[in-house]
Amino acid sequence: MVVILEIPLFLFPEQFEKNMKQVLFVCLGNICRSPSAEAVFNAMIERNKLEHEISCDSAGTAAYHEGEPADYRMRQFAQKRGYNLTSISRPVNPKVDFDRFDYIIGMDRQNVRDLKSMARNENDREKIFLMTDFCVDGQYDSVPDPYYGGAAGFELVLDILEDACSGLLRRLQE
Ligand code: 4NP
Repeated sequence: MVVILEIPLFLFPEQFEKNMKQVLFVCLGNICRSPSAEAVFNAMIERNKLEHEISCDSAGTAAYHEGEPADYRMRQFAQKRGYNLTSISRPVNPKVDFDRFDYIIGMDRQNVRDLKSMARNENDREKIFLMTDFCVDGQYDSVPDPYYGGAAGFELVLDILEDACSGLLRRLQE
């Protein structure tokens, strides 16, 4: 007699993670663009009830702001659109992140170059993408760094991220 037991996946968190699509958003400092991408994408995941299929995180190519919350200006602009930025800055850890994540997405071309220089092999390199490649609108070829600019820069980051995240979600559901 064969007995098939259904064992809940939550008893095996690692197995559970393996069955999910995992996305890592990456910018320079991990205090403006990539934490915002994480918050925007998490809101879409929640809205579409995809929490058990897709998860995301964010990191920086530099460790200047390691341990800090997101930039207060970025948090304020995001909050006005209903996004709560909760992440704490951390640098990319190539040994862990290239194994854990399926999509590693840089906000601009320099982020993508830096990620490629961290990749250990071709398999790692194939996971690296540019955020604006997922844009539906297609007006921008990077998410510009808002750190040294004014309000318009932060609003633009959110505009581009909302567009790119909806394209990314569509791609992951294909
Ligand atoms: P982010 O923005 O890469 O979008 O987090 C920046 C944050 C900090 C610095 C530059 C960009 N910085 O030079 O400290």
